[in-house]
Amino acid sequence: MQILLTRKLHDFAIKELQKRYKIFIHDGKIPMPKKTLVEKIKNVDGLICFPYDGIDRKVIESAKNLKVISTYSVGYDHIDLDAAKKKNIRIGYTPDVLTGATADLTIGLILDLMRRITEGDRLIRAGRWRQIFGPHDYVGVDLDGKTLGILGMGRIGQAVVKRARGFGLVVVYHTRTRLPANQEKKLGIRHVSFDDLLKNSDILSIHAPYRKETHHMLNLKTLRKMKKSAILINTARGKIINEGDLVKALESKIIAGAALDVFEKEPIGKNHKLAKMQNVVLAPHIGSSSAETRTKMAEITVQNLILGLRKKKMIYSV
Ligand code: DGY
Repeated sequence: MQILLTRKLHDFAIKELQKRYKIFIHDGKIPMPKKTLVEKIKNVDGLICFPYDGIDRKVIESAKNLKVISTYSVGYDHIDLDAAKKKNIRIGYTPDVLTGATADLTIGLILDLMRRITEGDRLIRAGRWRQIFGPHDYVGVDLDGKTLGILGMGRIGQAVVKRARGFGLVVVYHTRTRLPANQEKKLGIRHVSFDDLLKNSDILSIHAPYRKETHHMLNLKTLRKMKKSAILINTARGKIINEGDLVKALESKIIAGAALDVFEKEPIGKNHKLAKMQNVVLAPHIGSSSAETRTKMAEITVQNLILGLRKKKMIYSV
């Protein structure tokens, strides 16, 4: 059987694959250009892809032998599920193992923005730290007692709650389907409408999947409902926020700040408007990027592929 990887994975993962299959690893431009992808996928039995690869209808339809798509990510919004289903292609993904890492990063971004850590780092590196310890210099805000609003309450949202409670944050959340009462009680969280989430959150953190219904859910109209002192955190998917509207909201002080690990179009460059703002903290899509987590993701991605091609139950399938 033949496998296409749109990028190199860990050596141990490649060895596992080489023992069983003929593999082709794309080593050119990332993401793999669509034309090359459409060409290379034609005869392969399995595909290992990444969240930035657009595995759309055209790609799937050009794959004559494809049986399994194994994505190195928890998100699978880059794969056309209907087109895959029509061709009986099975899809594997990597939830659970990256929950803790993504929740850790979320807390890191909250702390960073509220205590102005990166802003201070930028200031020192620019040689602008002149006076020490002024009562009003570089003053941030406490986390204790603030309201953290979470949009989406899946695995990562819940892991954020557990960490947030240690910082004294009060948590409210909004999802389409409310969690069972006993789970809400255990987590110590309260379900609210989307409007109330916007109005009451000091910190609004997004942990919802990207789909049609969540596209640009945060836009000028919804951002205007937030507190002027509120900050927005996104470690989920860039397109849940209308980025142009967010820039306007930050420029006109409709909200106080934002910390973002994901963007509408990645990567963003130093000339992006968000990269020029002091009240913004940026991360290069590193939610799952700890050595331990990325290794586990590689193990699961390979196992999902092998099991799928053997027509066995995958560790995690969509
Ligand atoms: C995923 O796995 O979908 C994440 O975005 C990676 O950090």
